[in-house]
Amino acid sequence: MPVLSNINNEQKKKAAEIIAIRTSQDKNEEYYVHYVGFNKRLDEWVAKDRIIIAAPSDIEYPKKKKTSKKEEPKEKAPETGASLTTEEIYKVKNIETIEMGEFKVDAWYFSPYPFELAKNRSIVLCEYCLFYMQTQEDLKRHREKCKITRPPGAQIYRKDGLSFFELDGQVHANYTRNLSLLSKLFLDHKTLYYDVDVFLFYVMCIYDVEEKEEDRKYRIVGYFSKEKETQHGYNVACVLVLPQYQRKGYGKLLIDFSYLLSKRERVAASPEKPLSDLGLLSYRQYWTEKILEILLESKSVSINDIRDMSSITTEDVIHTLQSNNMLMFYNGVSSFVLREELLEKYQKTKKQTKLDPEYLKWTPPYM
Ligand code: ACO
Ligand code: ZN
Repeated sequence: MPVLSNINNEQKKKAAEIIAIRTSQDKNEEYYVHYVGFNKRLDEWVAKDRIIIAAPSDIEYPKKKKTSKKEEPKEKAPETGASLTTEEIYKVKNIETIEMGEFKVDAWYFSPYPFELAKNRSIVLCEYCLFYMQTQEDLKRHREKCKITRPPGAQIYRKDGLSFFELDGQVHANYTRNLSLLSKLFLDHKTLYYDVDVFLFYVMCIYDVEEKEEDRKYRIVGYFSKEKETQHGYNVACVLVLPQYQRKGYGKLLIDFSYLLSKRERVAASPEKPLSDLGLLSYRQYWTEKILEILLESKSVSINDIRDMSSITTEDVIHTLQSNNMLMFYNGVSSFVLREELLEKYQKTKKQTKLDPEYLKWTPPYM
């Protein structure tokens, strides 16, 4: 383990791993570091003076692949100026910020946008077709031609300022590829499938209810993808809420929508594993709230009833009950326990926006 202490403030030293080294324009060395034990989205370039090396012998420089016959060609990462192997390039964040509509947000991870574009380390996106470009000027020119104001595909839900569109990766290849590139900036834990053909995409948008339908603009908030044919009972492959909309309850709404579709399909389902750290937190919270809702509304229910009413798999129901200490056994008979602190938290969530199943205009396409 390469052990370096980073951060100039002595009080807040953090062990870090050096992923890459580059020379900045003013000829100073900079290090791309990963903080040991922290999520990769915190990885960053730091100046040499922020690095405290415990013992020079502890430095382990970025590994070079041992290739006895053919040396792996080194590519010059244009966005960093560092000489890196292909493997190393993917570990280094290539884009730092994205501009989308009124928002400017930091990217979290590497995404394979074209090298030339990533040079400036920031990109500008058309918030309707998700096409990427370099400057606001480019966007202005783009919008003169691009007249779309909503994702392509069928609108399958619309109520109270919230709408869902269903897109087929094969039919809407441009949009869904752009979406995959965008979401890779915030998803690191699994290989993102650039082969979009085998997926359906459910894009969640918000719109201004005051506007007439023909004038409405539908702004993307997040989405989830779903394999057209799954052998593992998954109802979500990847789920994402764009950072500018996170922690407002949209993640739970997306998850709820995925279960609403499963309910229509008459199956119990689960998201594809592994879940990211934030994915796990969100699913746990969603499952807990959903199970509490059912327990509070029903007089007598079994675990299988909860599964049937929610489309959450028996395994996920049991796991959620156990991790919240909600399952007790007396003389071989199981019963549910509703603890005060859980109920208090649940009362707050009642005010949050809920989906209305009546407004889902959808029949399962692959049944
Ligand atoms: N810190 C602590 N708890 C969190 C955080 C966080 N940063 N984010 C979500 N949670 C928990 C909370 O309990 C929250 O409920 P509460 O606010 O009522 O307590 C719950 O998760 C859900 O919060 P939402 O506001 O509904 O979720 P959000 O809109 O932020 O979206 C999501 C969650 C989709 C996971 C988002 O963080 C995201 O897109 N992350 C990047 C991509 C990702 O990791 N996706 C999941 C991959 S797993 C998979 O694809 C199957
Ligand atoms: Zn566009």
